[in-house]
Amino acid sequence: MRVPFSLALALTLVAVPVLAQAPPAVQEGRVLRIGIIGAGNMGAPMGLAWASAGHQVMFATRSPEELMELVRQGAPRVSVAYADAAAYFADVILLATPPVAFEQLGRDFGELMQGKVVIDISNPRVDRDGEITNQWLEQGTGEAMAEYFPGTRFVKAFNTVNPRNFANPIRDGVRVAVPIATNDREAAEITAALVRDIGLEPVQAGGLARAKDFDRGSPIWETGASAAEVREHLGVQ
Ligand SMILES: NC(=O)c1ccc[n+]([C@@H]2O[C@H](COP(=O)([O-])OP(=O)(O)OC[C@H]3O[C@@H](n4cnc5c(N)ncnc54)[C@H](OP(=O)(O)O)[C@@H]3O)[C@@H](O)[C@H]2O)c1
Repeated sequence: MRVPFSLALALTLVAVPVLAQAPPAVQEGRVLRIGIIGAGNMGAPMGLAWASAGHQVMFATRSPEELMELVRQGAPRVSVAYADAAAYFADVILLATPPVAFEQLGRDFGELMQGKVVIDISNPRVDRDGEITNQWLEQGTGEAMAEYFPGTRFVKAFNTVNPRNFANPIRDGVRVAVPIATNDREAAEITAALVRDIGLEPVQAGGLARAKDFDRGSPIWETGASAAEVREHLGVQ
């Protein structure tokens, strides 16, 4: 059936502005399903930022019924559930709980995470997570935490920034950087796009072992370092 020229023109005039107003992930055809386990200081603003960028976000905590305000703020791209549903739903899973929960999360939901991108943002602390913190930091959190989630495409990122950087991603006129460590090339690219969606600048650090170079207490940890400063510290291009 031939579409009359006037109808085609009308459809174009409607479709072009609608697409132009669409958030970046929608415009660029790269919408992800993101499961966020832990909806506190870090998980909540990260999930809302990704929903604004056009991704589908499912938040999970042990009390999802308390997260309805996040659903309201992120509508229509945000939902809430328990961790099993978020792990099942997601292409990308953000671990935004204290790391002391990882052993249980990996044991109970690791099967649902197989082959998926799992991003760890943790900064272990003895006072919150216990003495095992020293073991994790000694090994480096990238490789240490990945052991709780075998069979996933494990990524370490976002641990060097804090919620203030999401609200204000520019320091001294330069964008704050986020180092990324992973053994999976595609997971590295997916994470880099998610860093940009939050308004920050990704820097590829290399394999998971490199997380030790930007763990809690390193010279670029929570300093608002730029991409140039992070690259210099890590010795990468
Ligand atoms: N805050 C920062 O400045 C900052 C910066 C960089 C990295 N980090 C790291 O980010 C992670 C989260 O920190 P945060 O400050 O956002 O913590 P937070 O505000 O205390 O939030 C933690 C969240 O995890 C949930 N949770 C805890 N155990 C859980 C479990 N077993 N299953 C499901 N959900 C669980 C909690 O909800 P329920 O208790 O209701 O389940 C809560 O929503 C930590 O690893 C931290 O080291 C924090």
